[in-house]
Amino acid sequence: MNKSNELKKLVIATAVALLCAQAHAADNADARATQAVAALTPDEKIKLVFGYFSTDFNGTKKPEPGIEGAAGFVYGIERLGIPAQQITDAGIGVATQPAAKTPRVRTALPANIAIAASWNPDTGFAGGAMIGNEAHLSGHNVMLAGGADLQRDPRNGRNFEYAGEDPLLTGVMVGAQIRGIQSNHVISTLKHFAYNDQETGRFIADVKIDDPAGRMSDLLGFQIAIERGNPGSVMCSYNRLHGTYACENDFLLNKVLKGDWGYKGYVMSDWGGTHSTIPAALAGLDQQSGWPFDKSPYFNGALLESVQNGHVPEARLNDMAHRILRSMYAHGLMDDPAKVQPERIDYSAHAKTSQAAAEDGIVLLKNDNGVLPLVDSYKTIAIIGGHADAGVLSGGGSSQVYPEGGSPVPNEGPAQFPGPIVYHRSSPLQALAARLHAKFVYHDGKDAAAAATLAAGSDLAIVFATQWTAESVDQSDIKLPHGQDATIAAVAAANRKTVVVLETGSPVTMPWLNAVGAVVEAWYPGTNGGEAIARVLTGEVDAAGRLPATFPADESQLPRPKLDGLGLPEGTRFSVDYNVEGAAVGYKWFDKKGLTPLFAFGHGLSYTTFSYGKLKATPANGTVNVSFNVENTGKRDGKAVPQVYVSRVGGGWEAPKRLGGWDKLALRAGESRDTTVVIDPRLLAVFDGRSHTWKIAAGEYKITLATAADAPLSAVTVKVPARAFAAGAK
Ligand code: BGC
Repeated sequence: MNKSNELKKLVIATAVALLCAQAHAADNADARATQAVAALTPDEKIKLVFGYFSTDFNGTKKPEPGIEGAAGFVYGIERLGIPAQQITDAGIGVATQPAAKTPRVRTALPANIAIAASWNPDTGFAGGAMIGNEAHLSGHNVMLAGGADLQRDPRNGRNFEYAGEDPLLTGVMVGAQIRGIQSNHVISTLKHFAYNDQETGRFIADVKIDDPAGRMSDLLGFQIAIERGNPGSVMCSYNRLHGTYACENDFLLNKVLKGDWGYKGYVMSDWGGTHSTIPAALAGLDQQSGWPFDKSPYFNGALLESVQNGHVPEARLNDMAHRILRSMYAHGLMDDPAKVQPERIDYSAHAKTSQAAAEDGIVLLKNDNGVLPLVDSYKTIAIIGGHADAGVLSGGGSSQVYPEGGSPVPNEGPAQFPGPIVYHRSSPLQALAARLHAKFVYHDGKDAAAAATLAAGSDLAIVFATQWTAESVDQSDIKLPHGQDATIAAVAAANRKTVVVLETGSPVTMPWLNAVGAVVEAWYPGTNGGEAIARVLTGEVDAAGRLPATFPADESQLPRPKLDGLGLPEGTRFSVDYNVEGAAVGYKWFDKKGLTPLFAFGHGLSYTTFSYGKLKATPANGTVNVSFNVENTGKRDGKAVPQVYVSRVGGGWEAPKRLGGWDKLALRAGESRDTTVVIDPRLLAVFDGRSHTWKIAAGEYKITLATAADAPLSAVTVKVPARAFAAGAK
């Protein structure tokens, strides 16, 4: 046998051994955790359930072995080979705490809302795998990713960290990201459990929602994300639910998560989200995070004392330690320890992964008279606003990832958390100039009249409009800030060939919509965002994203025209009433109320055209299989996102229809493909609070193939037999 064959054999044998070791690790996680817990002293158990903030902050020093600038640290137990938990934010990459002195430079994915807009779980996985790799090579073994709170309100400051308004889309996309992260032997969280759907009063807001409605909306998103992603940890949220804080909420943690869904991982608190020792421990919290964010070190000495005096059973402390260790074993933290070796990060490959994700999620909202893709025949192009000469915007707060050399637009936004505003160094102007022969002239857009004069003298104007959103603050309305609407209107009046590129974290209104030629939603597009925008604008790639959330015409269409708690004096307790819409979140609310949004959920144009074959729906295995053919009938390669909505004939649901499934197909010009979408049975069911089961009623169901929630193509009716299944089954 020659050398190269021998080498091949060795590589295969090593790969097989590694795979076996991983499978073994997962299989034996419980056994290994049981053995380890038996060997732990009570003090060592306490070490595992008590986490610190890992950044010097307000005069408190981080634990010495914690990685500076990171979110969290939990001591390991050296004598048993249990590594410390080095915990980093968050969902778009290895973040640095805004309080840190020197930010680490890492690759930023587009915002999670942009990834959700790809409707492509492969994109979610690839992005997760990339940031998980950077976390591992940065010495981290826990990543605080997996934001899955539903977008109940377009003003929520953290919508950019979440995956939109639909529980199925959220669960599938977030689950894929978690799987990607964990493929690196890094535990990912799923957060913030549950109903942390606004930032206003986030530490005290008391959410009201009836259980069946919750199971069919926010909780369903989390449930699907757990099934798909198998996260090692779930982070409980700041808010209260029916009067009780989420991190000491027996219903959420013990009954739903660990009971109904059989979740085997551990629950960590959000930073400052623990409020007690005994109630929290008994309600299912397994690890207090981020000391000194809470008022007391509840899970340190006080927990040990509560165990010793019998207020918390020893078995419960063992269970906490077991769950933490089980996740660490199951996800390979012991067998493949994370080391600080950032020199091994392949930044150029990772920038491309981020760029591909951005391209997959950019949504073409409007395109009149073929303004886009841009042709290369313009002599002069005006680029206006959004610091498009310098870079692309990102969202603020604990998830902030920092670019090499810092933000190219310094000193914008609040000086303290959640600021300052950070731009990534990928200029859309430069990326366009590298592709087109036109002369580009930049104007900052602050003076609308001057911007209009520039546009009037140019062949084409592209306005970049930004909306900075951030953790801890909601938007007061859904308008573009800082007079940008006036600038766009003036530019569009001066030049009919005006393209608007939005970099926003949430839906915004567009009073100038009829006056402009094209609108592109680029979200916060990440490290290579300028390149991604230029490639979509020039048609190097198709506009492949679809809206993961409804764009309302104005706030009066929302379930809460005014945000609950807005304007109350700091510290005033208040309720957030989600029973107004219940499970009818987003497009479901618009359908139910007969409201016409600005742009519907699922909307997004392509540069090519698709035709759809005959729709077939067959009841099978307690659900419905839906098949059809998709053909790219245009002259360009492109991506279709056929969506399947389900309705119960005769009504009885929270809203007329629900997203039941979808596919994303990349099709070359002229190519066609058959596809089958299997409806998640919970989307044919209603959660019945009395029997505590999902119930599919026997009868007729309408299956609609559509390109958006408001754009049906064809529909068939199918008879489905009755079926009931457990709260944690499907
Ligand atoms: C945020 C979490 C974050 C944590 C650690 C909290 O303020 O709500 O999402 O993971 O801080 O930085």
